[in-house]
Amino acid sequence: MARRSLTQGSKVGILGMGYYVPPKILRNSDLEKMVDTSNEWITTRTGIKQRRIAEPDVSTSLLGYRAAKKALRDAGITAREIDLIIVATTTQDMFFPSTACIIQQKLRAKGAAAFDIAAACCGFIFALNTAYHYVLAGTYQRVLVVAAEVLSKVVDWTDRNTCVLFGDGAGACVVGKVRTGGILSSYMASDGTWKDLLEIPAGGSRMPASHLTVDERLHYIKMRGNEVFKLAVKMMAEAGNKAVALAGIECRDIDCVIPHQANYRIINATASRLGIDLKKVYMNVNKYGNMSSASTVVALTEAVKKGRIRKGDRVLLVAFGSGLVWSSMVLEWSR
Ligand code: COA
Repeated sequence: MARRSLTQGSKVGILGMGYYVPPKILRNSDLEKMVDTSNEWITTRTGIKQRRIAEPDVSTSLLGYRAAKKALRDAGITAREIDLIIVATTTQDMFFPSTACIIQQKLRAKGAAAFDIAAACCGFIFALNTAYHYVLAGTYQRVLVVAAEVLSKVVDWTDRNTCVLFGDGAGACVVGKVRTGGILSSYMASDGTWKDLLEIPAGGSRMPASHLTVDERLHYIKMRGNEVFKLAVKMMAEAGNKAVALAGIECRDIDCVIPHQANYRIINATASRLGIDLKKVYMNVNKYGNMSSASTVVALTEAVKKGRIRKGDRVLLVAFGSGLVWSSMVLEWSR
């Protein structure tokens, strides 16, 4: 098992946030016409009612760019004032250049360094944690964190086991020094023992694209859903407890939980294991499905906009994903 990263305390926080989801809605009733499924099955097993789907000519960088523009506006700064751009994604525009460089060019954020992070559905928390450490160390003052996905292009629309679960979207935030509150603790963990549970087998150096890989549909998401489900509950609970303990508080001190939005049953079970009332848990999986790295940042931004998170509140972010990876963070809301 990879060594875990444990950190504690400092006044680095979120200066501005934004999200963007494509306008096109794909409802469960639309999926009923595409595969052998039903609205009833999808709703009771996952809580998902609909998801957003990008148009064919829209790539991850465009969604990320639109979310980033909103985050910069919210933070009251220009793209030129950004020192570093970190993009979390599993659906990068291409192998290289990085999606971060493409977003940098779209923003005209000259002067910023830019790179991508691959941590699947934990991407936003891993990227936020990385940004936190750069600001904490004094290396950079303002870091733009973007989490963006166009999962609809890597979903097999003939596979009912997976195609009902995912959606497209992006969120972003600006990280910098804050006067009060900010990030109180962060936690990241990985275990490649379970690397085969959730993967896109082909297209990389292990299995480059060929007629065979295309014929066998190996460029799409493959998942052993039931096994992922059980591990997800265990890991989300472990991660939640870890960040709370590192922050020196108790679960009862948490005002709002922002979990990765994969399945409402995973979220319910996690809250129950943490002993946190479901009323404190923000959920939007019904509207967007699982947007991988973008799920937590979109949910966080929505929760703030809706007044579910206010200045001084303690917020727990918690996620798990392909790798497997799991992660968490406690923030005291400073805005
Ligand atoms: N519509 C109708 N039936 C479906 C279906 C669909 N969309 N997808 C699967 N089924 C069927 C299966 O074929 C299976 O049928 P069988 O019993 O005849 O073989 C049956 O439903 C039950 O499958 P099972 O896998 O036991 O269901 P489940 O209760 O575990 O729910 C998931 C399936 C995928 C919703 C659930 O396992 C899950 O959410 N896993 C985690 C996935 C996840 O979060 N991935 C992202 C990680 S970041």
